[in-house]
Parts: sequence; structure tokens; C-alpha cells
Amino acid sequence: MTALVHTRDELAAARSATTGTVGVVMTMGALHEGHRALLRAAREQADRVIATIFVNPLQFGPNEDFDRYPRTLDADLAVCADAGVDLVFAPDRPEMYPAGEPMVRVDPGPLGERLEGASRPGFFHGVLTVVLKLLQVTRPDLAFFGEKDYQQLTLVRRMVRDLDVPVRIVGVPTVREPDGLALSSRNRYLAPAERQAALSLSAALRAGAEAAELGRDAEAAARVAFDSSRAKLDYLVLTDPDLGPPPARGPGRLLVAAWVGSTRLIDNVAVEVPSAT
Ligand code: PAF
Repeated sequence: MTALVHTRDELAAARSATTGTVGVVMTMGALHEGHRALLRAAREQADRVIATIFVNPLQFGPNEDFDRYPRTLDADLAVCADAGVDLVFAPDRPEMYPAGEPMVRVDPGPLGERLEGASRPGFFHGVLTVVLKLLQVTRPDLAFFGEKDYQQLTLVRRMVRDLDVPVRIVGVPTVREPDGLALSSRNRYLAPAERQAALSLSAALRAGAEAAELGRDAEAAARVAFDSSRAKLDYLVLTDPDLGPPPARGPGRLLVAAWVGSTRLIDNVAVEVPSAT
């Protein structure tokens, strides 16, 4: 049975009564198959699973979609129950931030200013701050994050390492629609024509990964394949797996962000960069 708690006190009481290893899946709700994959991984790897549902105001800019972000608690609880979640923590804003906006926030460092951070100033301060708070109150052994938000996953790993947070971070592969579109809560903003246009992102990444397999330049091939008549490119970049400069050869990551109408979408894939010789 899935228990639902809204306050830290209720969470603390439920957490103290929990035995075995605990896995946490943090979400902002509007759960989809991508979240189900996270919950499944947690169910497989931990004895008890906690899911958190909180639309974190700190990670939305002034012109972003905080007010219209989908809030679907009843449906989310049904997903959690179906996925075998033991406990759902769904606090409201005053419960998470009792003193109002926190004065002290986690600084993501230079990586937080690039890629997503360049377009969304303060975004990763907001993400890492709430992730650290949720780790403190849920006290998990394992925490599961999707590779879909690759920069977030990388920064969470880095925060846990740099700040000695006693938790193991587990990355879970992106879930895609059959036509390649990466699942995202924001996909529900897309009108049918925009849904088609959104395929520009995954098509570009696929072209990049295939080019790399053939020994060609992944980033250049992805740029050619990106359909800029249907989506507005923000960035398309090849990095190493830690989001550093592109490797001369070996494992890399190809990342893209683009606007489709008024919706900003991101996606990424692993690529194997061929040796230049
Ligand atoms: O990935 C998300 O849904 C959010 O950024 C997270 C990790 C739940 C923090 O609000």
C-alpha cells in the first residue's frame, strides 16, 4: 500500500519506521513512462521506495511556466501505487520553504552557468537546493535521476561528491516514444504539429550518433539533420560524459535544446567518438 504524507513531521515518522535500503525518486509530478522507469529501477534496487512530488518554484525563471506547469496529484498517486511506491511525500510550498525563499542556496559552480544554465539563470541553484533538501528529509541510500536531464544528473552527482552527501546517485536511461521523442512532462504543451516538429531534436541526435559510428563528426552531422524550419535551436553540442570539452575519442555526450513554439525541450544521447586516425 502507498502511504501519502504532506508534512516533514509525517515524513520523519514514516521514515524512522522504515527498514532496509531506501530509494528515492524526486519528481515535480505529471508522471509519465519516464518516471515509471525511475520508479521501476528504484523498486528493483531498493527495499523501500519513496517518491517526492513538488513543483519547485526556485527552479522556474520569472517568464517560465511555473503557474501552468501540470499538477495532477490524483493521477500521480495512482501511478505511484501501481509502481509499488511505499511512501509519497507531497509537500506544499510553505512546508518546503517555511521561511520563504531560502537565503542560502547550493551553488552549482561553472557547469551550472553553461548549456541549460546559460538560458535559464539560477535554474541549477534552484534544482540543487531542492534536491539537497529532499535528500536531507528523505535520507535515502539511493536516489534515481533520469539521463534525459543529463546536466541535472551530472550536477547532482557532483554535488553529492563535493559536499559528501551520503547517497548513491543512479542514472536511468531516457524513455522514448516509438518515433524517438524523449518523454517529458512538457510534451503535453505541444499541439499536434508541434509534436511532429519536436522530433527535430531526437532526429538530430540519432543522426549524430550514427555519424559517430561511421567514423564521422557527430556534432556536424547532428547540426545538418536538425530541422531549423520547425524548431529554434538553442544549443547542440558534443561533450565528454562529464560535460567537459569533447573527447578526442571514446565516450561522449551529444546534447540539444530547442524551442518548439513556446515550449523549450531538451534531449541527449551517448556517442562513441571515433579516433581521428
Ligand atoms: O527533474 C525534476 O523533475 C526536478 O528538477 C527535480 C529533480 C524533481 C527537482 O525539482
